[in-house]
Amino acid sequence: MRVKKAVFPVAGLGTRFLPATKAMAKEMLTVVDKPIIQYAVEEAFDAGIEQIIFVTGRGKKALEDHFDRSYELETTLKSKGKTDLLHMLQDLVPRTGTIVYTRQHDPLGLGHAIWCARDIVGDEPFAVLLADDMIQTPGKPVLAEMVEKFDRFRASIAAVMEVEKDQTDKYGILDAVSLEEDIVKIKDMVEKPDPEDAPSNLAIVGRYILTPKIWDYLGRKQAGAGGEIQLTDAMKGLLTEQPIFGYKFKGTRFDCGDKVGFQMANLAFSLERPEMRGKLLDFIKTIKS
Ligand code: UTP
Repeated sequence: MRVKKAVFPVAGLGTRFLPATKAMAKEMLTVVDKPIIQYAVEEAFDAGIEQIIFVTGRGKKALEDHFDRSYELETTLKSKGKTDLLHMLQDLVPRTGTIVYTRQHDPLGLGHAIWCARDIVGDEPFAVLLADDMIQTPGKPVLAEMVEKFDRFRASIAAVMEVEKDQTDKYGILDAVSLEEDIVKIKDMVEKPDPEDAPSNLAIVGRYILTPKIWDYLGRKQAGAGGEIQLTDAMKGLLTEQPIFGYKFKGTRFDCGDKVGFQMANLAFSLERPEMRGKLLDFIKTIKS
């Protein structure tokens, strides 16, 4: 079965970004000139996804409006002859009916947020994208690569990368064996282990393709690390029944839920824009360390 649906959990509190995230979802923060959620939605469509499922909490309105028509703005742009901007705005609105919203009433954790989409996804494999993990790749976007891997392995797969040994307590960490140059087979995983307890420095980042069997484990709603219902724990359960693979993507990942990661993403993605690159590099040269 093809991967046609993607779940975007956007109901986290985003406490690391307060006060910016007081009335607005963290996923609406802007990198260069687009909210980070737009990058992730574009990545999903590029990978062949046909239905977007947002699990929202607060800040739902700005997110909904962003992916909706804005007649007032469109009329103004049209009357001013700004057709490039007009088309750009029109292009970012997905076809009617491709976006579905559901609500996570309490931010009980990532695993719980995904579980909120169970009836919308149903009995088919689906993708999960955490928009605050932005990944700059030299080639195809990560999810498109993962869909191809899923078609080969017909099993759940998560994007993985090596992290500094002292950073393991920020990630789901794997015990895994190498299968191919960019594929590992996961043996076990643990959420946010202290460096001395971590089975490796291979961490899961925010791109997943999951088989529907995961619903059995997410449905148990057991609180794990930090008192939250963790996706990692459900995947650990899934491992007892089905294989799960890790895809070692090529590229740089930015944690946009973190202030430093977010600024780095802004710089890296700005430097990709020819009209900004020169001016930014000139400015960086003037900064004294
Ligand atoms: P984070 O671990 O970054 O948590 O969530 P957070 O609450 O958003 O941010 P901080 O740590 O308080 O600053 C990872 C992803 O899971 C979603 C978030 O929106 C983010 O995309 N999430 C997390 C939910 O949708 N619901 C939750 O209960 C927790």
